Amino acid sequence: MQDKIRELTNEIEGYQVSNNDELEAYRLKFISRKGVMGELFAGLKDVPNEDKKAMGQALNVLKNEAQDKFKELITSLEESTAGAKSHDHPDLTLPPVPDQLGTIHPLSKTQQRIIEIFEQIGFSVAEGPEIEDDFHNFSALNFPENHPAREMQDTFFIEKNPDMVLRTHTSSVQVRVMETTKPPLRKIMPGRVYRNEAISARAHCFFHQVEGIYIAENVSFVDLKQTLYHFAKEMFGQQSKVRFRPSYFPFTEVSAEMDVSCGLNEPGTCEICGGRKNVCKGTGWVEICGAGMIDPQVLENCGIDPEKYTGFAFGMGVERIAMLKYNIEDLRLFSENDIRFLRQFTPMG
Ligand code: PHE
Repeated sequence: MQDKIRELTNEIEGYQVSNNDELEAYRLKFISRKGVMGELFAGLKDVPNEDKKAMGQALNVLKNEAQDKFKELITSLEESTAGAKSHDHPDLTLPPVPDQLGTIHPLSKTQQRIIEIFEQIGFSVAEGPEIEDDFHNFSALNFPENHPAREMQDTFFIEKNPDMVLRTHTSSVQVRVMETTKPPLRKIMPGRVYRNEAISARAHCFFHQVEGIYIAENVSFVDLKQTLYHFAKEMFGQQSKVRFRPSYFPFTEVSAEMDVSCGLNEPGTCEICGGRKNVCKGTGWVEICGAGMIDPQVLENCGIDPEKYTGFAFGMGVERIAMLKYNIEDLRLFSENDIRFLRQFTPMG
């Protein structure tokens, strides 16, 4: 037995572990009661009586050595794995990886700017559904059924329910606001709209609008013009030129359209299409906005007393404005998700 103890003492002294499995193997062999220690203590009963005491002591010494070594092995294993982890830490002396920040879509930026300009003069945002019923998109706005004015807007109908349409303008939200809000009220309605049009550089089957209404006592066309002038100057700069042309909308009387000069300093030389004339059709002017005094019948349709209140409404195309602002010549670029196009718009600017 003495030889065995000596042999084991040497083995324990020289024991090394490099991972948890090896540590566990050590534990099973030297610490567990089912290992060599158990066997040796069990063998004690065969030792002659006079040697028993000394042998028992020697075994206890061995047992303590085995346990001390076990603690030592645990600590050294912990240290070596912690050391390995510290190699995984990033090397702080390396040059930084460039940021992969996304950019804000030019339409979102433009829409946000439009909202900002109107918010500064007291308008607040209202939203409504993109799938709209006939009443809010048409009837309430003086487009009676079968009226040719409905053809001004090529409508997508919902097949299963012909009373529902994809809204063709956010004027539907104007109706919803007028139904539920008492004048005086000042609201803008940003949102996506749909029209069944052939896709080209100037038209798409969906686009974005910001419409607005102001209803109070004694609102006049002068208020409308000044509001839109203010908008154009804020959006395109103090030097920008605008013009109003008479127009027709079923829900406004009188009605007008507002154009902005696309060759900002010299109407007639288009900075956007560079002579290809596909945006302004060679006129130097781009229409960005329909507007007018809200027809008294529309106020009445929405529960507002036309004897007491008057109001103006306008609706502008976000795409058109973004094209003017950023010199973009083809409307399709906005929805193609070409990363080379989108990257030109910085997150901040
Ligand atoms: N809703 C009209 C359109 O989509 C724009 C408009 C709004 C015109 C308000 C006049 C008044 O074309």
